[in-house]
Amino acid sequence: MWSVRPARPQDAAAVAGVHVRSWQMGYRGLLPADYLDGLRPEDRMSRYTFGQSDPDLASTIVAAEDGAILGFATTGPSSADEAEGRGELFALYVDPDAWGRGVGRRLMAEARARLAGQRFTEAVLWVLVGNVRAERFYVADGWVSDDQQRRQEIWGVAVDETRYRRRLP
Ligand SMILES: CC(C)(COP(=O)(O)OP(=O)(O)OC[C@H]1O[C@@H](n2cnc3c(N)ncnc32)[C@H](O)[C@@H]1OP(=O)(O)O)[C@@H](O)C(=O)NCCC(=O)NCCS
Repeated sequence: MWSVRPARPQDAAAVAGVHVRSWQMGYRGLLPADYLDGLRPEDRMSRYTFGQSDPDLASTIVAAEDGAILGFATTGPSSADEAEGRGELFALYVDPDAWGRGVGRRLMAEARARLAGQRFTEAVLWVLVGNVRAERFYVADGWVSDDQQRRQEIWGVAVDETRYRRRLP
């Protein structure tokens, strides 16, 4: 059985593997194929800051099973251009082999609880335009698109994103 816990520095390689595999499967058709095929977990793991405890920085939780990482979620105070006082779900990725097992839902529930525990009353997230699976998932979880769009570079590629918002009880 799997459970959710804070990410530790030694999870970085396994999380990066999930990160890359879920991009390659989830963003196929949305981002250039040669870009996706060339993604390397090593490039991502060097940028993670697992184990830090500064509440002003983003933090990550993982779903782990027998030492394997099934998925992860990253939350924290929203980026500087957002209105004061909002939390943000920066990342939610589940290993494609584990999709449909409830891992995403559990990570999302924990991520919301962590943001609410940091006293945020509202949260935002940005989803890739055309990522219908993720949008369906977020809508089922009570998130609403506010039609705000942006283009920005993440992990070396320019992406168009739509913003979703949700109240945190
Ligand atoms: C999107 C993603 C995180 C979902 O994770 P998952 O573990 O497969 O999802 P789960 O098994 O927990 O839940 C799946 C179902 O629960 C539904 N659901 C989610 N939250 C719910 C809620 N609060 N109440 C009711 N239903 C809910 C979803 O809509 C989905 O239903 P569907 O299969 O009919 O679409 C996963 O597919 C993924 O990593 N995709 C690629 C990366 C990605 O796009 N991430 C989002 C980046 S913005």
